Amino acid sequence: MRIRVFSDGEKLASGATEEIVGWLRFDPSHPNIGLSGGRTPRRTYQHLRTASVPWRQTHLWMVDERHVPPGDPENSGRMVREALADHVPATFHPVPWHDDPNQAAAVYQEELRTILPAGPGGLQPGLVLLGVGNDGHTASLFAGTKAIEEGHRGFVANRVHSLASWRLTATLPLLVAARRTIFLAAGSEKAEIVARILEGNTDCPAARVSRSARDVVWLLDREAASLLSLSELR
Ligand code: 6PG
Repeated sequence: MRIRVFSDGEKLASGATEEIVGWLRFDPSHPNIGLSGGRTPRRTYQHLRTASVPWRQTHLWMVDERHVPPGDPENSGRMVREALADHVPATFHPVPWHDDPNQAAAVYQEELRTILPAGPGGLQPGLVLLGVGNDGHTASLFAGTKAIEEGHRGFVANRVHSLASWRLTATLPLLVAARRTIFLAAGSEKAEIVARILEGNTDCPAARVSRSARDVVWLLDREAASLLSLSELR
């Protein structure tokens, strides 16, 4: 695992862009990137607009989605489209809208089969870019929800009682199969959960992905890294 700390949000976005570009050039045989929603990655997506990478061969997909229609301001695919996908000639795969969240997840899982190669245990993503919530969730895998226990399917609907809403999410088996996993976290409000994850003091969903995934890098700004001891930063 690698940990890189950047002095501020803008340098974090540049560093994340550098990591993604480097990976697309290093591993061009798996040109697909699973993207997260939320606030943190938006600036990175904007930086990626001008990256010189083989966008035409690249597929952008969503590691999760809120169960809201595409035009809803809360829709993560809408944010990714506005920040990146509408600005590059990559093929973007937003999660489709269906009234029934289980139907939406099943349809998307079939779409993922058309872009992700088969790996030893199922579909194998190329690169996934994940965030982490203060509560330790990642994608839409929240502690105590059914999706965290899913051991077979790659993409499912997940009822998140704490949010009183449905989410659609990649599962642990799909996320940990990725060839490269980047966690992106910024801000002092993430410092405690980041320290607990990197010190091995929590079994939260983000920790379960981070310790099981194949090749993980944590990209942090100074505030999110502020509770890490020097040993973690070695
Ligand atoms: C979402 C994300 C979610 C996000 C974390 C962190 O749809 O919101 O997929 O997992 O990565 O909640 O969000 P922030 O970047 O806004 O802190």
